[in-house]
Amino acid sequence: MSIATARVGSNIAFIKYWGVADATLNIPLSNSISMTLADAHTTTTVAWDNTGTLDGDVFVLDGNTQSPARSQRLTRHLDILRGLAGVTWRAWVTSQNNFPTASGIASSASGFAALTVAGSAALGLDLSNSRLSAIARRSSGSASRSLFGGFVEWEQGTSDADSVARPLYGPEHWDLRDVVAIVSGEEKKLSSADGHLLAKSSPLLAGRIDHVAGWLAETRTAIAQREIHRLGPIIELDALAMHSVMMTSNPSLLYWQPGTLEILQAVRAWREDDGLAVYFTIDAGPNVHLICEAERATEVETRLAGLRSVERIISSPPGPGPQLLDEHLI
Ligand code: DP6
Repeated sequence: MSIATARVGSNIAFIKYWGVADATLNIPLSNSISMTLADAHTTTTVAWDNTGTLDGDVFVLDGNTQSPARSQRLTRHLDILRGLAGVTWRAWVTSQNNFPTASGIASSASGFAALTVAGSAALGLDLSNSRLSAIARRSSGSASRSLFGGFVEWEQGTSDADSVARPLYGPEHWDLRDVVAIVSGEEKKLSSADGHLLAKSSPLLAGRIDHVAGWLAETRTAIAQREIHRLGPIIELDALAMHSVMMTSNPSLLYWQPGTLEILQAVRAWREDDGLAVYFTIDAGPNVHLICEAERATEVETRLAGLRSVERIISSPPGPGPQLLDEHLI
């Protein structure tokens, strides 16, 4: 049995990935920039069965054995690794998130990145992080960014080989916090994979894509200079632009709940009335990620806890890239 275990952090995008140029390869319509999270990670053990005992992959997620239907995306991903190694072995895969699924933190980003790192290490494949990023991208675009720690940019690229993430700065560069305000733990009705396909039906998509190159440049500079008041307005603008595309696609995607708007209004009031340096971003769901510097995090958490619609708060600094662990989950 060849076995390996990897721990990989999820990430929050500052400039988002929404819409695909190639849906099979997950080639995006633009670059995106994210921060890898230290305290929201997935640990995955992959054990390849080279004895032929298994007739299908076995996937246990957070202690629950997944049905074949729920294991399909995993099996397709393992097929890529099997193809690279030239084997037909099935695998036992056990995966553990240290954050609740459907919490507004992307479990597929850390999940597919951890599966890629553990699965390829257990096969003895010696692949660079850039290669691993391309492989992770095939099953979850945002997973390509979790192959690196700190602040990361996923280059759009034009092919399977060059649509990969690269590190901008390590986690020590800037002590930011992602304070996630959970307004609903419900699973989303439409997967991001289906959402990406709808982006082209929005009349606003072209407007966002036309502007994104400028927003990426501004974001790189803001991170380089550690300027929260430069980063914040751009991440809010891009999150609102992405949600405008979602809302105006056909069919329309409306991820927000009343609580989402309560938080957006509160953040703006805290900033304008009290000078609190905090900004929001939102992924494909109702929960809101508040981005601030470490010194403001306790104040932000206290204020969030006072809002009616906030069910739960999760907070994380920037974190490292993938780690291989000696202790296995199987
Ligand atoms: C809105 O295709 O990576 O989070 O694999 O379902 O997690 P999943 O989604 P993916 O799309 C992510 C879209 C986003 C923006 C982003 O993370 O860039």
